[in-house]
Amino acid sequence: MNRKSTLWTLIAVLVILSFVMTGCKKAGADQVEVFSWWTGGGEAAGLNEMIKIFQAKYPDIEFINAAVAGGAGTNARAVLATRLQAGDPPDSWQGHAGQELIGTYVAGGQLEPLNFLYDEEGWLDVMPATLIPLISADGNIYSVPVNIHRANVLWYNPGILAANDIAVPTSLAEWFTAMDTLQAAGVTPLALGEQWTVMHLMETVLLSSLGANAYNGLWDGSTDWGSAAVTQALNDFVKVLSYTNSDSASLSWQDAAQLVVNGDAAFNVMGDWAEGYFRELGKTPETDYGWAPVPGTAGNFQFLSDSFVLPVGAPHRDAAIDWLKICGSKEGQDAFNPVKGSIPARSDGDRSLYGVYLQSAMDDWASDTVVGSLTHGVVANDSWKTEIDTALGIFLTNMDVAAFQSALVTACASSGPCQ
Ligand code: GAL
Repeated sequence: MNRKSTLWTLIAVLVILSFVMTGCKKAGADQVEVFSWWTGGGEAAGLNEMIKIFQAKYPDIEFINAAVAGGAGTNARAVLATRLQAGDPPDSWQGHAGQELIGTYVAGGQLEPLNFLYDEEGWLDVMPATLIPLISADGNIYSVPVNIHRANVLWYNPGILAANDIAVPTSLAEWFTAMDTLQAAGVTPLALGEQWTVMHLMETVLLSSLGANAYNGLWDGSTDWGSAAVTQALNDFVKVLSYTNSDSASLSWQDAAQLVVNGDAAFNVMGDWAEGYFRELGKTPETDYGWAPVPGTAGNFQFLSDSFVLPVGAPHRDAAIDWLKICGSKEGQDAFNPVKGSIPARSDGDRSLYGVYLQSAMDDWASDTVVGSLTHGVVANDSWKTEIDTALGIFLTNMDVAAFQSALVTACASSGPCQ
């Protein structure tokens, strides 16, 4: 090749390269990567409804669904942490209102405040006043809640209860009696899944056994983790666990919930995303499944809220803001929540779009005492929750209540407010 043709080749390569790079940049500018753990069992279906609204409103932005499978985000949150550490944030991610958001992401300086969006969209007029402090720090608001979920729900199989002449239990004592009857009849009383569902069950039993005030006190340091009341609550928890299936560790929350609607277990304690799943399975409320507050927790709404954030350094910041606008909109919330099995975070949702269970949840949310969930990020930051989870994992291998309680005392002292 002579010098001239080498030069022309070089110019041609440069021109092609610059075209390719402009193309890439353009595609990059018109996309939004949204990270969650909603991949299946009622959850993906809910997310898809919101994605549809987004795509109709912003047809030029490519929606990249970066959901990572695994209930309660156990896998997803590990993947997210690795990405954040590597300086590779998605454009927006799912985070729970409360300490998961404030004590973890905000404390880590990973989020942009969203006050400007709340002003522009008028969200302060429609988001519940109870929720705003849980997504705020130093006067800044850091996320857009899409829903309210209830954790303390007892799902039951109405046919199994009727066949065994059991009324829906309203106290721990009644629940134990009912589960004794079921056990004697050869029915699995309580369906349970992998470890996070055990923590979920535990928080509801703590609430039942301690009552709302003392339960709240666990998280603000006013209830002594070493007290006799907590010992009693843990003993109640041990008793509840004695009624569960032995293969729980290998079951997802969907597997465990499904045992109830399939007639293979009488009860399951799970958040109301289970309702989204039951509906996806084609089951009928009040026939295939019934619900009640976890025995002993009537009048209390143990809540959590999924919200979406704007990270510092979002690769596609404008598109991320467009996504957040859909998350906070009435249209987005009323499309997502009836399918997801949650009630809208906004107070102006269209009630007629929601089924009989969710309408009852709306009524309870409006009238009950509201307390926060541990498993789903409201009451403890990530380090405290991780310590509790580690202690729980050990406890499940030895069922040593005294050792568990002392590990919980230590966890509050090292990562909670009990210093
Ligand atoms: C929760 C989340 C819910 C639901 C559930 C099971 O943490 O807030 O929306 O997805 O996990 O995966």
